[in-house]
Order: sequence, then C-alpha cells, then structure tokens
Amino acid sequence: MKRKSTLFAVAALAAFGLSNADPAVIVDDNLGLSHVSVFDTAVPDAFDYPTVDPKDAGVLPRSWEDAPPQIPHRIDKYLPLNAQQNKCLDCHEEPDKIGKKAKGKPTPMSETHYVKEGDELVLANRRYVCTLCHTPQANVNTLVDNTFKGD
Ligand code: HEC
Ligand code: HEC
Repeated sequence: MKRKSTLFAVAALAAFGLSNADPAVIVDDNLGLSHVSVFDTAVPDAFDYPTVDPKDAGVLPRSWEDAPPQIPHRIDKYLPLNAQQNKCLDCHEEPDKIGKKAKGKPTPMSETHYVKEGDELVLANRRYVCTLCHTPQANVNTLVDNTFKGD
C-alpha cells in the first residue's frame, strides 16, 4: 500500500510538472527588476547633461514640497566645488532677496541655507557642497520606471 501511494505521488508530480511546465518556470530575465538576463550586464545608454545656460533654464517641477529643487541649468562650467571656489554662491547667495524669485534670475537660496551670526545671515557650512542635495537632470531612458508621485 505504501509503495503504491509513493508511486502515485511520483506520477502525479510528474504529470503536474508537465502540464504546468510553462507557468512554473521562472526564466532568468524575470528574476530581478531589470528584466534582462542575470547573465547580461546591463549597460545604460551614454548621455549628455543639457548645456542650458541659467538665464534660459526656467525651473523644474519639485518631487514634493520641500524637496531640494533639481538644477535646471548646466553646471559643468561651475565645477568643481571646493574650499577655494564655489561658483554656485556667486549667483545664488543673496540673503537680502530670500523668497523673491524672478524668472531668468538666480533663485536666492532659502533661509535654511544660512545661520545667523548677530544680525547677519551667513552660509551654513553644512550647505556648502550644493551638489550633495541638488543635481542636474538629463533626458535618459530609465532602466526601471519609477511610479512615485509626490504631493
Ligand atoms: C550664472 C549664474 C548661476 C550659477 C553660477 C548657478 N546658477 Fe543655479 N540658477 C541660476 C538661474 C538664473 C536659475 C533659474 C532661473 C529661473 O527661475 O528662470 C537657477 C536655478 C537653480 C536651481 C533651481 C531653483 C528652483 O527654484 O527650482 C537650483 C537648485 C540651482 N540653480 C542650483 C545651482 C547650483 C548647485 C549651482 C552650482 C553648481 C548653480 N545653481 C550655479 C543661475 C545660476
Ligand atoms: C543638505 C542638503 C542641501 C544642500 C547641501 C544645499 N541645499 Fe539648497 N535646498 C535644499 C532643500 C531641501 C531645499 C528646499 C527646501 C528649502 O528651501 O529649504 C533647497 C532649496 C534651494 C533653493 C530654492 C530656494 C527657494 O526659495 O525656492 C536654491 C536656489 C538652493 N537650494 C540652492 C542651493 C545652493 C546654491 C547650495 C550650495 C551653496 C545649496 N542649495 C545647498 C537642500 C540643500
């Protein structure tokens, strides 16, 4: 009796395996999010950052309120940022104009970028390296789509 049921189980498994061969198989390009074979090395297409000058840049949408705005203009001319130079500040450090945006003019950095020294607003050291939080954008095909929608 025992032997018979084992045989039956083996036969059933084989039949199940055959009839469901397709849905049960996970092919290697469906294993991850990238939808390419795990044996391939996905190489993103080469791309260039836009060479839009700041005065023609306009602004890009923000992902959510208080997200660091994306840089809408070229930055290659203004790098590197180091202890000796920070060209972003030449245009964006305008403590007297905080909150006053004008089209085609550099957006003044907001109050959060400063500390108070007496009556003066001085750039906060932790905000010195702008590109930690603000990044330029390029028109690229994403390897994996992002469906995130902010407020
Ligand atoms: C020559 C002046 C200039 C320099 C240098 C410059 N910017 Fe700008 N920036 C602008 C102007 C002009 C705008 C947007 C204009 C508009 O609103 O039409 C802008 C927009 C931005 C914005 C978007 C602001 C928003 O409200 O969405 C960010 C972020 C920014 N710049 C960051 C940087 C960083 C970081 C650097 C240095 C790597 C830099 N900028 C260098 C002039 C400049
Ligand atoms: C630690 C992250 C961080 C760093 C570093 C940083 N920022 Fe920002 N920035 C933000 C965030 C977050 C916002 C949006 C919320 C706010 O205004 O505080 C912002 C807003 C801005 C705005 C838009 C202001 C407005 O009123 O709409 C400008 C312009 C800007 N930053 C420029 C700069 C520049 C130039 C530097 C470098 C000197 C810099 N930021 C460094 C996080 C950062």
